[in-house]
Amino acid sequence: MSILIKNGRIITSADDSVADIYIEGETIVAIGKNLDYQAGTVIDASDKLVFPGGIDPHVHLSMPFMGTFSSDTYETGTRAALYGGTTTVIDFVLQTQGDSLKNALADWQSRATGTAVGDYSFHMAVTDFNEDIKAEIKQMVEEEGITSFKTFMAYKGALMVDDRQMFDLMSEVKKQGGMVTAHATNGDMIDLLVAKHRAQGKLSPLYHYLSQPEVTEAEASNRFAQMAGYTGCPAYIVHLTCEGALNAVRQAGARNYQVFAETCIQYLILDASLYEQDFEGAKWVMSPPLRQKKDQAALWAGINQGLLQVVATDHCPFMWEQKLMGKNDFSKIPNGHPAIENRIELLYSEGVDKGKISLSKFVEVSSTNAAKAFGMYPRKGTIAVGSDADIVIFDPNEKHTLSAATHHMNVDYSGYEGWQVAGKVKTVLLRGKVVIDNNQCLVQKGNGQFIKRNKVSNIL
Ligand code: URP
Ligand code: ZN
Ligand code: ZN
Ligand code: ZN
Repeated sequence: MSILIKNGRIITSADDSVADIYIEGETIVAIGKNLDYQAGTVIDASDKLVFPGGIDPHVHLSMPFMGTFSSDTYETGTRAALYGGTTTVIDFVLQTQGDSLKNALADWQSRATGTAVGDYSFHMAVTDFNEDIKAEIKQMVEEEGITSFKTFMAYKGALMVDDRQMFDLMSEVKKQGGMVTAHATNGDMIDLLVAKHRAQGKLSPLYHYLSQPEVTEAEASNRFAQMAGYTGCPAYIVHLTCEGALNAVRQAGARNYQVFAETCIQYLILDASLYEQDFEGAKWVMSPPLRQKKDQAALWAGINQGLLQVVATDHCPFMWEQKLMGKNDFSKIPNGHPAIENRIELLYSEGVDKGKISLSKFVEVSSTNAAKAFGMYPRKGTIAVGSDADIVIFDPNEKHTLSAATHHMNVDYSGYEGWQVAGKVKTVLLRGKVVIDNNQCLVQKGNGQFIKRNKVSNIL
């Protein structure tokens, strides 16, 4: 099987030029002007942008959470990702407290294997660290290709680890060549505020937001970053939302600590005014919550300053009926929102088209940096000879409107209903196969492969 993509404007994190790409099997074989290969399929990409398949390193598919499951399966979620130009996702295996990492992995594999349409990998969320689990860290890195370990500093009683466990875990993960990542918010402070609001009968979605003020995130981000500095463990803060947390990352960088950070598309473009309505605000009940306009400005600047390396989604969709579990109590609304399909088009539209970030920065934060941080580069995250042919062909001028009526995510509302975007994902290749073309998905479940990842590189 061979494909020749002709005359596209190829954008990587380093280059920008009009050229052809020749693909054989799953791999890019040649890149250059006027390539002269006899290919089985020729795709004309004139006037289109051609960039590496998106990597979303923060998604939750079929995740058991808050008494229910996130509504996208590996099939529906990775298919929707492909429609939106994201060819690889990294999901989170959640250790059950008191049980092994191995058992948790088997559970997640049972949902993903043979089901995913696009490529996927796993972070391992350590929720209960002790001597037995310590021995499993090496196994995960060496045998399973799982090199990043997620921690929750919130969700007490379910997922949260304390500082002692965090510190110990970081020391072990550093030894094994991995990365520790964190949902960095102060679980105790949040629990206290939630209890206070509930006791006062303040039960609407607005109080989800008011129970997680900026200080809860700034404090935990700083604590995490400082522990990373002390232990020397590469560290990565997931879904960073606000100026205060960004300042913690800035300070860590000034001390040359290896602290990386991700924000998500929603924190760049939506704000907390969405909670100032009745239960409708539940659509955006997520943790951390949406913030203020001043935080959006800080986040865009943080991307350009290299403090935020990744724009992910934290895709964690729930049907409206599931959101209604918290109709009378915000603390029972399943946390999360759908965006896996919308990330690339929104980031292009609100970032590149509106002049906030460059095209190369767009590629960096939507694909390349995640591949580097999580040990998949240069197999994934770039367009280069020898890399997987994971490629998006994008029309920068095809305006269209986002809607639940046309999206492919398994959720009955959109967080971006009616939002006009400036460009459109037209054709997507995954490992040398055309998987999306003309608004059609051309592959079935089982097409996605599990991607084993390398130890953490030091090249961001
Ligand atoms: O609200 C969120 N973020 N739901 C998913 C779980 C998490 O904390 O990432
Ligand atoms: Zn989280
Ligand atoms: Zn998450
Ligand atoms: Zn679209």
